Amino acid sequence: MTLGGLDPDRIPEHIACVMDGNGRWALAQGLPRTEGHKAGEHSLFEVVEGCSDLGVDWLTVYAFSTENWKRPKDEVRFLINFNEEILVRRREELHERDVRIRFVGRRDWRVPKRLIRRMDESVELTKNNKGLTFTIAFNYGGRAEIVDAVKQIVEAGTPADKISERTIAKHLYDTDMPDPDLMIRTSGEYRISNFLLWELAYSELLFTETPWPEFDRQALFGAIAEYQDRERRFGGVGG
Ligand code: IPE
Ligand code: IPE
Ligand code: MG
Repeated sequence: MTLGGLDPDRIPEHIACVMDGNGRWALAQGLPRTEGHKAGEHSLFEVVEGCSDLGVDWLTVYAFSTENWKRPKDEVRFLINFNEEILVRRREELHERDVRIRFVGRRDWRVPKRLIRRMDESVELTKNNKGLTFTIAFNYGGRAEIVDAVKQIVEAGTPADKISERTIAKHLYDTDMPDPDLMIRTSGEYRISNFLLWELAYSELLFTETPWPEFDRQALFGAIAEYQDRERRFGGVGG
């Protein structure tokens, strides 16, 4: 397996992706927006396989935000059904690839019970896998995650002087998840859109014009190459 010229010692441990641009990609070809979401499945698996071949430990993708409920009802329904369908259709394949599936996001009344059941089954099926941890952010919002953490901390009666950054981090949706090293957003939008607000504090941010349905393994390798050229300082002076 070639690493595509990448430095094997500096592969990011955790990559987060805002899979954006499906709708515009479809409209540009005269297709309905939903065709863009369908085309995005191929990119998603290119990235999952690319990460797993490179030995990336964690991949987190933004599938549906807490703000995406604002979209037309038909598109929301399509996205819910399509996410469920992909999960059921492809989880065995992910399992065979030793991928561990996880979810982050709010499990509120808007998320259909059947989808929650499918999520739980997929997590259970793959929980002992040792390869890539693939986290799907569904009905996820970074602010909601911080609010949910604060609620738990208050409910536990934690005194104010006992609250540190660690306390907040310990109450996020997935306490095992390391902060992303690299965040990639496709389709030329230069914003975070409420993704992993706490966790992205020191991530390298990479924005590309490529729409998600055209993002592939090569594009992923290119993004990691750019990441490897960056100097991370974490507030220090570097060197
Ligand atoms: C990303 O593509 C998929 C989701 C947000 C679910 P979009 O649907 O946002 O596509 P654009 O940004 O409108 O082109
Ligand atoms: C972010 O994309 C959410 C997902 C990719 C799931 P959006 O397309 O919803 O973000 P905005 O509205 O352009 O900020
Ligand atoms: Mg978008």
